[in-house]
Amino acid sequence: MSRNLIVAANWKLNKGPAEAAAFLDAFVPKVEAFTGSAQIVIAAPFVTIPSVVAKLAGNSRIAVAAQNCSEQESGAFTGEISTAMLKEVGVQYIITGHSERRSIYGESDAVINAKNKKILAEGLKPIFCIGETLEEREGGKLESVLRTQITEGLKDIASLEDVVIAYEPVWAIGTGVTASAEQAQDTQKYVRSVIADLYDQSTADAVQIQYGGSVKPGNAGELLGQADIDGALVGGAALEADSFFGILENS
Ligand code: G3P
Repeated sequence: MSRNLIVAANWKLNKGPAEAAAFLDAFVPKVEAFTGSAQIVIAAPFVTIPSVVAKLAGNSRIAVAAQNCSEQESGAFTGEISTAMLKEVGVQYIITGHSERRSIYGESDAVINAKNKKILAEGLKPIFCIGETLEEREGGKLESVLRTQITEGLKDIASLEDVVIAYEPVWAIGTGVTASAEQAQDTQKYVRSVIADLYDQSTADAVQIQYGGSVKPGNAGELLGQADIDGALVGGAALEADSFFGILENS
């Protein structure tokens, strides 16, 4: 089964419009000369999104993502941003379930599920993150933690056609410690088997599963060469045009 790769930058709390413009000035010409077929996505901070969309107008290689959204439609939810607003400004993907949202902002599987459903109902695509802590992995809970996150996060979602899954082991995020290609492959194979249990084999064969956690140009080739790794969700190494492009070049 061949699945297209999806390589996404998660800028997190970095880059206002001016820095984003400087990044794109350096990055877009490289992409124009790039012959690979990977879908490229940039997840920018909310206030940066409109300028990134404007700068990428007519560029079908690079899609724009948000890093979060509200599960609510509209109303008295101070500080929140709706999926309709994000769609209006040109967002195509929205990250959900990131470990920073789970651990720092206390997002539960139920909230993440509500966001996933809201995003799909809006006609957008969630990049749905899952991942275990080191303690959970070392305590033999890897599979049960991931199975729960997947089952609860995708509850009542009938089709995964527009869902991207990102496996991000928490212990590998921003630490410089990458899961070995074998660890990542074994875990992502397991994730795919859970999808086959919950849906069916053809859904499992089709769903894109990214790996995230200290991906850099030097390890991207080996990671993305694994059978069940269909791309990368990149934090630190996606802040510089050269290193993010280096990951694409090695994909
Ligand atoms: O969402 C991407 C991420 O959490 C990985 O971050 O800095 O380890 O590539 P980093």
